[in-house]
Amino acid sequence: RLHAGKFYALPQSPQQYKQLLMVGGVERYFQIARCFRDEDLRADRQPEFTQLDVEMSFVDQEDILRLTEDLAIALAQAHGGRRIASIPFPRLTYAEAMERYGSDKPDLRFGLLLTDVTDAVRDSEFRVFTSVVASGGQVKGIRVPGGASYTRRETDELTRFVTQRGAKGLVPLAITAEGLRSPLTKSLPREKLDQMIDRLAGQVGDLLMFVADQPDVVATALGELRLEVGRRLGLLDPGVLAFAWVTEMPAFEWNAERGRYQAKHHQFTAPLDQDIPCLDSDPLSVRAKQYDLVGNGYELAGGSIRIHRRELQARIFQLIGIDDQDAAEMFGHLLEAFEYGTPPHGGIAWGLDRWVMLFAGESVIRDVIAFPKTQSGVEPMTGTPSSIRSDELRDLHIAVTEMEAERALDAT
Ligand code: AMO
Ligand code: AMP
Repeated sequence: RLHAGKFYALPQSPQQYKQLLMVGGVERYFQIARCFRDEDLRADRQPEFTQLDVEMSFVDQEDILRLTEDLAIALAQAHGGRRIASIPFPRLTYAEAMERYGSDKPDLRFGLLLTDVTDAVRDSEFRVFTSVVASGGQVKGIRVPGGASYTRRETDELTRFVTQRGAKGLVPLAITAEGLRSPLTKSLPREKLDQMIDRLAGQVGDLLMFVADQPDVVATALGELRLEVGRRLGLLDPGVLAFAWVTEMPAFEWNAERGRYQAKHHQFTAPLDQDIPCLDSDPLSVRAKQYDLVGNGYELAGGSIRIHRRELQARIFQLIGIDDQDAAEMFGHLLEAFEYGTPPHGGIAWGLDRWVMLFAGESVIRDVIAFPKTQSGVEPMTGTPSSIRSDELRDLHIAVTEMEAERALDAT
């Protein structure tokens, strides 16, 4: 903020602003906040969107989950006109969601879970599987009810679907009244095949489909295949709202480009108490007090419990490569305030446009937003972004430097 020629420092991020309010003695608040983000656009993402943003002191994760859940139920009952699949909302850890659904925002309107068969195929003659298992990968499959009758063209189409999403292939196993039909029958004894079928609860008439790869590739490929199969079989019931909580997210990830760890959510997110000893030995195993509310495959709200102790915050800064001097410069006021006894606090933010999209039965967020931006970030009605007149820039004390102007010219 600029006033009378002087700069006033603003918090580094909106997130920090929320926390400073708690630090500064505001007990709790909610706001409806306009958000602007520079991210790749997707069907459920816009660069301008709206949050219902909530922050509270003296709460733990359970308080926030309960409050949010009660409000979600009330809203869905008032406006959704649809059946809520399960109350209380099911809770999954991030690891469980990835393991069973291959997604951190699983659609719980139907089953067909990803099922691990790695140990059944470990010692087989089927090279595709054994080589992947030998290099630390896994083999998982899903069941397609009634899929045994798929034509060659249909299974090829599904194979193409997963290879476009990073998998190297898809092994089918059809269970027919005449027996099993699969490339696996030549290399795996019947008892191993039966073990795989048992595990996936396969029945006559079903098609089982397997992918072998590293866990992240398997999760993406099979997770999306599961949704595609659900769509084809008409299992995505539009009359149902299947809410769930996803908790215990990984706190950190490795940034290979910068050669350091970084916070997955943000650097103020508290780690699970029992994982704090792993901060030094194995940061990637540390889980966070972070939670997302998902519904019908969308992330509808997300938040976390924040760190409120100086020593822990300083340790996290160190881990993600913010040195003491930078920490003091950027966040000194926060670290200092922690010394005076900051209450435990946490919050959550709802993506309101996504709720509108869900309640309106739409699948593209553009359809429920005024002045939506196209894939390339253009707003077609007013034709923005466009150039700004120099007197407007002057009013705002903004200078367009030579470098930026050159870049803009290069881009045109
Ligand atoms: P997060 O980044 O998870 O958390 O955002 C919260 C919720 O906002 C919605 N959302 C979006 N909706 C439309 N377009 C987008 N580009 C977009 N990005 C996010 C989602 C998401 O669940 N400060 C933290 C919250 C906290 O920790 O309290 C935050 O913003 O529904
Ligand atoms: P190939 O040995 O490449 O001819 O593959 C034999 C079968 O295995 C084909 O059905 C492929 O689609 C499938 N396949 C190849 N690699 C994988 C993999 N990593 N996971 C699952 N199926 C695979």
